Amino acid sequence: MQNRYSTLASLVYNLDKPVGRSFGDVEYYRERLAGCSGIVLEPAVGNGRVYVPLREAGIDVVGFDASEEMLAYCRQECSGRNIAASLTCQTFEAFDYEQRFSAAIIPAGSFQLITEADKAIAFLKRIHDHLQPGGKLILDIDGIGGFLSPTGAVRSWKTADGDLLTLIDHRAETDFVSQTTLSYLRYERWTQGRLLDTELDLFALRWWGVQELTLALHTVGFSDIVVSGGYVFGQAPAKNAETITFEARRDR
Ligand SMILES: C[S@@+](CC[C@H](N)C(=O)[O-])C[C@H]1O[C@@H](n2cnc3c(N)ncnc32)[C@H](O)[C@@H]1O
Repeated sequence: MQNRYSTLASLVYNLDKPVGRSFGDVEYYRERLAGCSGIVLEPAVGNGRVYVPLREAGIDVVGFDASEEMLAYCRQECSGRNIAASLTCQTFEAFDYEQRFSAAIIPAGSFQLITEADKAIAFLKRIHDHLQPGGKLILDIDGIGGFLSPTGAVRSWKTADGDLLTLIDHRAETDFVSQTTLSYLRYERWTQGRLLDTELDLFALRWWGVQELTLALHTVGFSDIVVSGGYVFGQAPAKNAETITFEARRDR
């Protein structure tokens, strides 16, 4: 499956964006969920960067992810903090729960990992149908600027046992019609100057216009859609906004 984080990608994500790292989003989601009395769903929960602080704030969150490697980091973090983890391996395309949620959250632009517009809209409908009447969806998307910026830089991290991890991000294709980019993410793990492991992940993303996503949310039955920038609820996003947050409500 495309975009599912594999072994080195998960290791790097967990070093780069561990539980405790916030872009302003952790505080924002915590605040927006404060009044929710029921259970919250987090699709693409990953390593628990957002999930764990929400659980620690007393919010009942259920998460799923397509990557067992990412879920393993989340489970490990939860068990170290005595949090009962409610996590399963499921996908955007096929997730299913009997229960209905009071809210769903999708931080970190994960919604943009669904690169076909019709599948993304089907996913929004599936989320809608998993919410209680009155339940809300909060999701972030990255502004278009990030999709057009140059790539190719090498980034690096040190593991706990001193190995060097490197990542080269090469954008292979930009499709202005389908609004997608395809990048080759080449991960390498080095120990004492010797290459231990390598992984090439094909990483695809779709960008959305603000009006386009607003219409898509309306189409699947959401209303009261509020678009915010800078993690200030109701503040219109600036024209160069890096992150844009959508909040929408299921009516019936
Ligand atoms: C950017 S991370 C987000 C992690 C976490 N929510 C956060 O805010 O830090 C994106 C996650 O989406 C997951 N993912 C990718 N494709 C998926 C799919 N088709 N279904 C479910 N999860 C998927 C990846 O495995 C990864 O853990």
